[in-house]
Amino acid sequence: MITCSAPGKVYLFGEHAVVYGQPAIACAVERRVFASVKLLNSGRISIRAMDQRRDCPSTDFTYICQAVRVIKARTANDFGAEIAIKSELPPSQGLGSSAAVTVSTIKALSECLGIGLRDQEIAEMGYQVECAIQGRASPTDTFVSATGGVVIIDDTKTSHLMHPDVSIIVGATGVMRSTGDVINDVARLKRDYPEIIEKILCTIGDITRLGERKLSEGDINGVGALMNINHGLLESLGVSNITLDKLVYKARDEGALGAKMTGAGRGGCMFAIARGSSADLVAEAIAQAGAQVFITTVSDAGLRIERET
Ligand code: MEV
Repeated sequence: MITCSAPGKVYLFGEHAVVYGQPAIACAVERRVFASVKLLNSGRISIRAMDQRRDCPSTDFTYICQAVRVIKARTANDFGAEIAIKSELPPSQGLGSSAAVTVSTIKALSECLGIGLRDQEIAEMGYQVECAIQGRASPTDTFVSATGGVVIIDDTKTSHLMHPDVSIIVGATGVMRSTGDVINDVARLKRDYPEIIEKILCTIGDITRLGERKLSEGDINGVGALMNINHGLLESLGVSNITLDKLVYKARDEGALGAKMTGAGRGGCMFAIARGSSADLVAEAIAQAGAQVFITTVSDAGLRIERET
């Protein structure tokens, strides 16, 4: 049996605008999904996916099934396998759990089958899986999960950025929403008010480009300020909501350098960046406001082999 893991992620900048060709910056976080695979002699595929803390399904099996299909097509091998998933990420909360499930499953299958796929290839195959299931996806999630660190996606080009040493405080609202519905609402707003919405999307792109510079200069206060501006623009696109806004303002009141929603919005998660003891104060404040909270850091490790038995 081989166990591989991959991290979740937050968007520092650029969600939604990335759907319209603007750049985005995503950051892998130290919360992981673990996929264990054992090949079977029969052609049977059995899947078990449990949350590490609760005894309930941790993920959508369709991503795992599609990942198996993609590997079978690539290897022309109708193998059977037992696949077990454990997740440290809350599902459907915009933290990239489906991408992490997908790439960790592909990696574990590839190791068991001895085909030694590179992380970049796994990210691309994972992107195909997401496109097949969601119809529309950006390569951001699978790339950052497969390769770790902080990544800028500009059109189809991806590269790693330097990043400062800060705490990342994630607040999950527990509210699940359909990414497709939120994307469609933004598309509708853009159709109704093209001259306004196009400028907002371009400005988010400008924030991402400036954010890239601030990261390279190690200017974490600048990164935080740009996160705050980005959140305001996401709010103007109608993708935040009162719960996310409340958590964002609580975090800022407690000394966060920056706070914003992450992902599609209308639920899911927000996160804040903070230094030193402010991280605990921010975490406590947003927990009191009703969020499920964890404090994490940037994960430099993307895909990783955890165990081979
Ligand atoms: C969803 O996590 C982020 C969006 O930008 C969609 C995407 O990039 O695929 C809304």
